[in-house]
Amino acid sequence: MIPKAELHCHLEGSVSPALARELGQRNGVTFPDGMFDGRGNFVWRDFLSFLDAYDRVCLAVMTPADFGDVIYSYLASIARQGAVYAEIFCSPERAKVRGLSYAAWLEGLVGGIDRARRDFGIEGRIIAICIRHFGPDRALEMARTVVAEPHPHVVGFGMGGDEAKFTPADFAPAYRLIHEAGLGCTVHAGEVCGPESVWAAIEALPVTRIGHGVRSMKDPRLVEELARRGTVLEVCPGSNIALGLYPDRAAHPLHRLIEAGVKVTLNSDDPPFFHTTLGDEYDLAGLGEAALRRLTRTSIEASFADEATKLRLLKEIET
Ligand code: ADE
Ligand code: ZN
Repeated sequence: MIPKAELHCHLEGSVSPALARELGQRNGVTFPDGMFDGRGNFVWRDFLSFLDAYDRVCLAVMTPADFGDVIYSYLASIARQGAVYAEIFCSPERAKVRGLSYAAWLEGLVGGIDRARRDFGIEGRIIAICIRHFGPDRALEMARTVVAEPHPHVVGFGMGGDEAKFTPADFAPAYRLIHEAGLGCTVHAGEVCGPESVWAAIEALPVTRIGHGVRSMKDPRLVEELARRGTVLEVCPGSNIALGLYPDRAAHPLHRLIEAGVKVTLNSDDPPFFHTTLGDEYDLAGLGEAALRRLTRTSIEASFADEATKLRLLKEIET
């Protein structure tokens, strides 16, 4: 099996419909009619209705133990697909809505990560993400908490949510705080919006990675700039196709980005929502074993893990 690593998967976006129902039952949370189709899959139509369905799942994850179970279950699933490392996007905003403190939420997640390492040997880390449509004030408040209560498993900061709301520059104070504290930074851009959103992100924020960034392909000057800077794209082809950005894998710019010298990695984003898995992304990428192994190496090099962990993992995937 080709060794794999993942840099872009949303915690609650990894919850299968079956686990969502189980958490709902456990916590007395009911889902609205139409949330699942006849075969039990999540129902959504477009990006905003996807975000809405995603929000519903978030509401069913309530206790520190739930957060631990969700991250454990995801890490276990990708370890079985050959993954040795994963950074999971986890939003403390979700915990806050549930009335959980940052510390209690984190303790649940860390417990799940440590259990997964013990049971499957996979190394997991947390990227704390703010939610763009909640606005820059909440992002800054969250960044302050992340910096004030550091934990070795929390290695980075990111932003998801509705890319059409606010501008990256609005979030610069939050990112600056995080960057000065020595954590890695990434941001969703060039997924729903065009190349201008990626320009705005790389010019305003101290990011070494971009979530998606695939729409950069429309601007040759931007592609050149990403290659020159060595900015790493967290590419999620299955997600892009499910959301209708591209009709199929043949039309997806993954290969063209690689040919242009842009550093790319393969990721699953919100796998059950988009009917994909990390293993599927590798299997369906249309790349040979050497190229896939190179992508895993890029993921580990671009990860926000400490240097000793990176060196250990790089050695592990060579064998
Ligand atoms: N939150 C969860 N999945 C997301 C995605 N694909 N884009 C932006 N925000 C998200
Ligand atoms: Zn994402």
